[in-house]
Amino acid sequence: MNTVPSASPVAVGVFDSGVGGLSVLRALRRRLPGAALVYVADSRYAPYGERDDAYVIERSRVICDFLLQQGAQVLVMACNTATAAAAAWLRQAHPDVPIVGVEPGVKPAVLRSARRRIGVLATSGTLASAKFQALLETVRHQAEIHLQPCPGLAHAIEQGDPQAPEVMGLVQRYCAPLRDAGVDTVVLGCTHYPFVVDAIRQALGPEVSLIDTADAVARHTATQVLNKASALQPGVVSAGAVAAYTSGDAARLEAITARWLDFPVRVAPLP
Ligand code: DGL
Repeated sequence: MNTVPSASPVAVGVFDSGVGGLSVLRALRRRLPGAALVYVADSRYAPYGERDDAYVIERSRVICDFLLQQGAQVLVMACNTATAAAAAWLRQAHPDVPIVGVEPGVKPAVLRSARRRIGVLATSGTLASAKFQALLETVRHQAEIHLQPCPGLAHAIEQGDPQAPEVMGLVQRYCAPLRDAGVDTVVLGCTHYPFVVDAIRQALGPEVSLIDTADAVARHTATQVLNKASALQPGVVSAGAVAAYTSGDAARLEAITARWLDFPVRVAPLP
């Protein structure tokens, strides 16, 4: 595995509308154990998936400014919805900063699907975005693709209990049409969904493959970090440390990181 030496000074800023991006943070930690990671959960303003582009761009702008102030030299948008709405805007605003986005893994799904019948679970915002529609266009002739918006699911996961009856009910409701359509591969197109992977697997059946792009995003970020490692000054956070800030309830984020992650995270309110 391509890992960065523990003395690496590079700080990686990561954000999501809430706790979903912790699934990407987890993969980043595995790939980049020596990089300082700074995470922002914008839980007070979540969910993004049912908001318009202007709202998501403004939140992404505020958070990226904060992460850059914290010394981030590479940014990871650990949110499909924010990437679809705001990645182009942010890249234009910060042309010198590598900005890694996430998008639903429909391309790996096409490679994986034997039946060429694929389902995509994502927020309404992601599925409706021009960026996702353009991505879909590139694979449209290679597979039958069933899109399933999941309103309310990210918000329910945000409450911190992946087994809560509300979460289970929504998972059942959104997986049923995909099961009926006979898909053999399903894309987890929102970074919140890997935290309910067991419920999704149960709802779809064991023969359906699930695609999560967190590790691919971490791999791509590692390349950006290695490119920066020799050229940059140390950031204000120390190498290997993981800090998380939230615009929501810090005690709740602290409990969730302790339960969902296997490395220590220093949690503080977003100033
Ligand atoms: N985790 C986010 C994503 O990947 C979205 C959740 C939301 O805020 O709606 O799209």
